[in-house]
Amino acid sequence: MNTQPWWQQAVFYEIYPRSFADGNGDGIGDFLGLTAKLDYLHDLGIDAIWLAPHYPSPFLDCGYDIANYADVAPEYGSLDDFTAFLLAAHARSIRVVLDLVLNHTSDQHPWFIESRASLDNPKRDWYIWRDGRDGGPPSNWASIFGGPAWTLDPQTNQYYYHAFLKEQPDLNWRNPDLKAAMWDVVRFWLDLGVDGFRLDAIATIFEHPDLPNHTLPLAAHDILDANALDEPTYRQLLRWQLKQPGLHELLQELRRLVDSYPGDRVLVGEDEDLAFHGAANDELHLVFNFPLMRADRLTPQHIRANQIQRLAQLPAGAWPCNTLGNHDSPRVWSRYGDGAHDADLARLHIALLLTLQGTPFLYNGEEIGMTDLKLGGLDELRDTAAIHQYHKLVDTHGLPPQEALHAALATTRDRCRSPMQWSDAANAGFSPPSATPWLPVHPNHTAGVNVAAQVDDPTSLLSFYRRLLHLRRTTPALLAGEYQALPTAGDAVLAFLRFDPNSRQTCLVALNFAEDSQTLAIDLDGRQIRTLFTSQAREHELIVTDSLTMTPFEVLIGELREQ
Ligand code: GLC
Ligand code: CA
Repeated sequence: MNTQPWWQQAVFYEIYPRSFADGNGDGIGDFLGLTAKLDYLHDLGIDAIWLAPHYPSPFLDCGYDIANYADVAPEYGSLDDFTAFLLAAHARSIRVVLDLVLNHTSDQHPWFIESRASLDNPKRDWYIWRDGRDGGPPSNWASIFGGPAWTLDPQTNQYYYHAFLKEQPDLNWRNPDLKAAMWDVVRFWLDLGVDGFRLDAIATIFEHPDLPNHTLPLAAHDILDANALDEPTYRQLLRWQLKQPGLHELLQELRRLVDSYPGDRVLVGEDEDLAFHGAANDELHLVFNFPLMRADRLTPQHIRANQIQRLAQLPAGAWPCNTLGNHDSPRVWSRYGDGAHDADLARLHIALLLTLQGTPFLYNGEEIGMTDLKLGGLDELRDTAAIHQYHKLVDTHGLPPQEALHAALATTRDRCRSPMQWSDAANAGFSPPSATPWLPVHPNHTAGVNVAAQVDDPTSLLSFYRRLLHLRRTTPALLAGEYQALPTAGDAVLAFLRFDPNSRQTCLVALNFAEDSQTLAIDLDGRQIRTLFTSQAREHELIVTDSLTMTPFEVLIGELREQ
């Protein structure tokens, strides 16, 4: 009997609601459209949805600037539409996890409007207000999106702090009334029946109360451009703004609240720090393995090193969580492809994600091989952070506008947020042909990168995802097994075992990342491999065990059997 909680077995699928399916034809995804696609998701074989923010928002940070935590963005539908979606998902055994943005609100949130109105109003202390220092901001801290982290508000002549855009003021989590109000929000959604939360940017929740200045030997404009510097300097520059004392206690409190509900509700943190599981496993259930993503190519060497390190550091009782893409990063296909074997590599990458030990998180559109969108110009950008980047490159760095535009278009998060490609029709079946989608659809929807073209084609990437997802859910060792590295060296083949002590099942996973055949010697103690899955047609089901020859880019998953 497998006793794992559901979230350890589940495959999560991130949905970016604005781009998934437009049910009313206004060019914007909505709950009507999303609900109609639940059968697609059920057939695909995912178990849970992580829904990116669906709340009312001025949409300057694509919904991560929330103006009301207890409602639905009107363009996405009503609270009733949300509830209908949730029930319909549950009816298909698909769980739903919401995005919870604790660190900041929109500057249009009534809490902030009240807070900024006067120095002595009851919500003043719900945000982080300070007097300026020496005629400037209270400290020389930078926003994560670039520029100063403080904005002067002329109404009261004080500065407020924002880790992200100036339209995303940080909440003051040291204020008990604010905390109580936010816990009410959490209860609101748990009472409606959601299955948990993905916690946005948790490291940013507290700041150092004394606001120490950075004293690094850097020019002031470099300090304010922290995110353009190298990783260690960036970390150094954010040291007073990230992971400050109080955070673990706060997450423990949230965990107790969530645990007071039945049904194993889950907390997933947008961070890679395993300390967020909590010293007594009493904080977050899942923490993303972002270091796995941090590579230009996913090579066997990189993956092996990542797994050794990550699994060794995993606290006792904690469970891993792997992902390769989300709404902030390039598309998996574009990021890890080599331009020549992208289709083969995409298959290896999903096979990797679904066979490593841990809960996988997929991102919508990945399953049909959607690629980064190249926007045409500044007026098409919707990601405010990228618009700021453009202006900064022109104004502060003196780049010619064309070069600045090129840089902004190449890195904007809009590139991975374009509408889901359902068919080769105009607007890719996302919106009716007469509508104007909020972001352009990728032109490759007419070149086979769409659901309709792939759904009945057994050789498509979508079919490959579906086959693997269905295999995973019926294979105990893949769901629950421990990861055991096999001593294959080099950069061609990644091979490992997954052993599940409960069912006593052992699986071999072998992934050939090379464009030529590879033979590997494997010592399986006289056992045989029965093939469960292969990306290549093989004549024999049973493969003798001392050596294994793999065809180029082959994915092979087998079960070990006594002879
Ligand atoms: C997280 C989100 C990102 C957002 C940021 C600020 O990193 O994933 O999209 O911009 O938080 O809320
Ligand atoms: Ca719509």
